Amino acid sequence: MRFAGVFVAASLSLSACGGEGPTAKERGAVTYAEYCAPCHGQELEGYAADNANALSNSNFLSLATDAFLRDAIVYGRPGTPMSGWGEARAGPLSDADVDDVVAFVRSYQATPSQEVHGDTVEGIATKGQAVWSAAKCDECHGDFGQGGAIALSVNNPWFLATASDGYVRQSIREGRPGTSMQGFEGVLGEIEIGDLVALIRSWQVPVDDTPLPPFTPTFDPNRDIQNLGGGPPSWSLKDDRFIGVDAVKAALDEGREMIMLDARAHSDYVDGHVTGSVSIPFYDLDLVIDALPKDVWIINYCGCPHTVSGLSFDALATAGFTNIAVLDEGYYVWESQGYPTNQGE
Ligand code: HEC
Ligand code: HEC
Repeated sequence: MRFAGVFVAASLSLSACGGEGPTAKERGAVTYAEYCAPCHGQELEGYAADNANALSNSNFLSLATDAFLRDAIVYGRPGTPMSGWGEARAGPLSDADVDDVVAFVRSYQATPSQEVHGDTVEGIATKGQAVWSAAKCDECHGDFGQGGAIALSVNNPWFLATASDGYVRQSIREGRPGTSMQGFEGVLGEIEIGDLVALIRSWQVPVDDTPLPPFTPTFDPNRDIQNLGGGPPSWSLKDDRFIGVDAVKAALDEGREMIMLDARAHSDYVDGHVTGSVSIPFYDLDLVIDALPKDVWIINYCGCPHTVSGLSFDALATAGFTNIAVLDEGYYVWESQGYPTNQGE
């Protein structure tokens, strides 16, 4: 494992106990610690990064099938900070790694799985729209279920492709105790809840499962340094760490030299990235760190809005880099400001 000795130590001690080698759950714990804990928390408690839900929540786990979890990990929730981590999305995790993580997450389930996935839910989407506003679902999940400052999305194509109507209805009825998602059973009638399920279902569009080719990061100064030779930006960082999107855009427009380092999983970069940025996922930084210049500013960014870019910042700082910063508001604010972005490799 690449980030810190602690992960290596964990994997060694796991394989040292018993002659059989680590179990799927033990292997999954090591993978989880490196790739998932930065956002979903060490104990799967959630919210180490905005909207990264509580994976240990028993109401969630009693509804989430293994197939639901596997697809969420492989394909992610495109357009949100949840990356696609599987081989199909050029991700770092093999199918076997994904199965191990599912086994580890599953080990937190404390109540039996609920057999709701074959349920037929009746409802009228247009009526659901009125309930959505009246019950203030929009305040947390956004006007169109796109997610917001408080809660994850419920309109994502991959969520809707893998969550049954029974999953959605039961999530609304029970909520997620211990989080801000209350249960609406008794608060709303069954007909209203059915109308909400129909509304959420009406947001479904087909998923894009086109496989991405495998990816290994590289660094090329001529390709990846913007405004090469343009001289450094002059700015002061917040907390010796953060720089805002407006300051970065202004410095680029002034012709200042810098590297925009996209620290997210590669699938996110393909979906959309800052024009001129280089894809160096936080877990693969060690592969190219020796090629990075210490005398050119490196702005690390991610989408969450600055959790995994913060890991890259810390690793660079440890390696002696000083001209480094974290993009404070993250990629999605850069994009919503209308600043230049590109899609594809
Ligand atoms: C960069 C932060 C980040 C990392 C790292 C991350 N996630 Fe997520 N994850 C999120 C966010 C945010 C969401 C909610 C996305 C949305 O709005 O739909 C999410 C959603 C999910 C969901 C879907 C939950 C649901 O109810 O729909 C699962 C399952 C999940 N993550 C598991 C994982 C696993 C396992 C890993 C490690 C392989 C991981 N995540 C890594 C941020 C992250
Ligand atoms: C106060 C904020 C808040 C309100 C209001 C709210 N939710 Fe949620 N909702 C959340 C959070 C946070 C989660 C994720 C909790 C977790 O598991 O960590 C969630 C989860 C869900 C899920 C499960 C999503 C998934 O990926 O598993 C559904 C479906 C849902 N909400 C629908 C609704 C509906 C419908 C309403 C209105 C009746 C509503 N919510 C109102 C905060 C809210």
